Amino acid sequence: MDRTKKLLLENKAWAQSRIDINPEYFSDMAKDQNPEYLWVGCSDSRVPESEITNSNPGQIFVHRNIANLVVNTDINFLSVLSYAVNTLQVPHIIICGHYNCGGVRAALSPNSLGLIDNWIRNIKDTYQIHKLELEQVQSEKEKINKLVEYNVLEQVKNLVHTAIIQKAWHERHAPRIHGWVYDLDSGLIKELVSIKPGIEIDSAHRYEF
Ligand code: CO
Repeated sequence: MDRTKKLLLENKAWAQSRIDINPEYFSDMAKDQNPEYLWVGCSDSRVPESEITNSNPGQIFVHRNIANLVVNTDINFLSVLSYAVNTLQVPHIIICGHYNCGGVRAALSPNSLGLIDNWIRNIKDTYQIHKLELEQVQSEKEKINKLVEYNVLEQVKNLVHTAIIQKAWHERHAPRIHGWVYDLDSGLIKELVSIKPGIEIDSAHRYEF
């Protein structure tokens, strides 16, 4: 049987199970969305944001890409960010990386992988920034995981450097930005950083409104 048929059958069963619990479930859900979080995560199939946070449809607005990057020329991401911040007015943005990330692993390798090199390049830049600390780490696994953490922190910084965030902070003192890492071995999320609106921003990246 075509494996996608299984997904369609599972979908029917899922929709029915929701209706069994609450007959209004879909008519309520269809009206509007009012999510509290924007999730920026890795595309990795093992890190499904709703599942690992036990969240329901409607709670998390999502952008996922390889290695959860915030790239300031990525029109796809910037559109998601702008909509989440300005229209949905989410109070929280979560950037969630995960240990043993394939994208981060690729950044530590000298091999060229084709087009994706240009995306992974952003992580190589982060490696270069933290080269001294990373070179101290002996085990390859630890080195990857340390770079996973630095990568999240760098993406938090990239987010703070957008005019979208700085304008929202100026106008409504929101959203808060959180940097997390998910551990595939334990299923647990570790909080690396949590940033309140209005923190000091270096002058080169600071906009005035
Ligand atoms: Co990943």
